[in-house]
Amino acid sequence: MYIFKAAVVGAGAMGGSIAQVISYSGLPVVVKDIDQHALDLAREKAESIYQDRVRKGKMGASEVASKMALISYQLDYEGFDDVDIVIEAVPEKMSIKQAVYKELDAACHPGAIFASNTSALSISEMAAATKRPNKMIGMHFFNPANVMKLVEVIPGSQTDAETVQDVVSFSQDLRKIPVVVKECAGFLVNRLLGPYLNEAAYALQEGAATANQIDGQATGAGMPMGPFMLADMLGLDVCYDAAGTMYKAYGERFRPAEIMGKLYQHRKLGQKSGAGFYTYSDETPPSLEDLITEVQRETNLLTSDFAVDRIILPMVNEAIYALQEQVAGIGDINTAMMAGAGMRVGPLALADERGLDEILSRLEAYEQQFGARFTPAPLLREKVAAGELGKKSGKGFQEYS
Ligand code: 3HC
Repeated sequence: MYIFKAAVVGAGAMGGSIAQVISYSGLPVVVKDIDQHALDLAREKAESIYQDRVRKGKMGASEVASKMALISYQLDYEGFDDVDIVIEAVPEKMSIKQAVYKELDAACHPGAIFASNTSALSISEMAAATKRPNKMIGMHFFNPANVMKLVEVIPGSQTDAETVQDVVSFSQDLRKIPVVVKECAGFLVNRLLGPYLNEAAYALQEGAATANQIDGQATGAGMPMGPFMLADMLGLDVCYDAAGTMYKAYGERFRPAEIMGKLYQHRKLGQKSGAGFYTYSDETPPSLEDLITEVQRETNLLTSDFAVDRIILPMVNEAIYALQEQVAGIGDINTAMMAGAGMRVGPLALADERGLDEILSRLEAYEQQFGARFTPAPLLREKVAAGELGKKSGKGFQEYS
């Protein structure tokens, strides 16, 4: 099916940018929210992305006007009867999403695709609330959506092959790189970023290093953004919700660091609220330091030190768990982390580079010190036992001649 017109429901930070991405490709898009202020902010967001391009000499003012004219912002479902795809980007609560899908069923023609931009929730559970489970799919963009090239395409248990193909082609029309991912909590990229952010938060609350020091070491090791910069950009509410979903699904390996919950309770949600791991404009107490002290008082904390492997290796290990569970193939896992999270080298390529035996022994040492968050993936052990150690042995996750 060719997509002639799209809709976005939910005009938050992601919804607003996704509408800009769609308009940039030349398609008309209707943006719907229940809050006029959110719609105004979404319009400003799209305008500012375009104005940025004008400032850099990459677009002219008249082209911007014609692209902006493709987007309409509204409080109702007018014009939804002829959209071919709806991208849902409403808050990460299953009950809200299911209620929205019931409304969409009534507003859209029966062939329209329902695509959720959820960070971690079950596509199949959302599909259960619709009359068209075969047309329900995950279409997960990455922040900032106008910059990051990846779209994860996640079929639910009843999604038909035609819908998958349509969303893959649509993603390409948006000049994105689609990677089809098997449904699991956090899908692929958030599942791998989860341990990176979470382990950094443990190190911080244990006093092993400051947020600045940890972020500095992460960028020094080739990550485009340190974990705390990234969490503040994404929103600690988004991270907290996704962390809860993944903890429920994967257990102790994903037990969330207490400092995340503290910041969340105090609505210190990152850039958008003026403070999070860093302070932007909100200087109201409690400070991050106060909250760390509170966590240290309330929990049985280990004293620890910090080396960047502590946050990189759990991400590599999770990539191996995802591979062994066939969430995606080797090439797709590497591509997704480069296109969706800006890594210079994908995590499995990094493992091959470093040596699988070295990765395993480092993980085992961390497991001794910190427990289940570092339990090595069985596939890693198997590969090391088979002598597949990466580049140095000619074969690891990939073959080398
Ligand atoms: N909003 C809009 N545009 C932005 C932006 C922002 N916040 N930040 C940067 N840009 C644009 C710039 O204008 C520039 O545009 P141009 O190519 O047209 O000139 C382009 O992005 C590159 O900007 P910079 O040269 O300043 O690039 P940096 O080297 O600083 O990179 C970055 C910025 C691309 C954001 C990089 O830091 C990065 O890759 N960070 C990792 C982001 C990441 O991991 N995202 C995924 C998070 S997980 C997620 O979103 C899933 C969700 O479910 C939680």
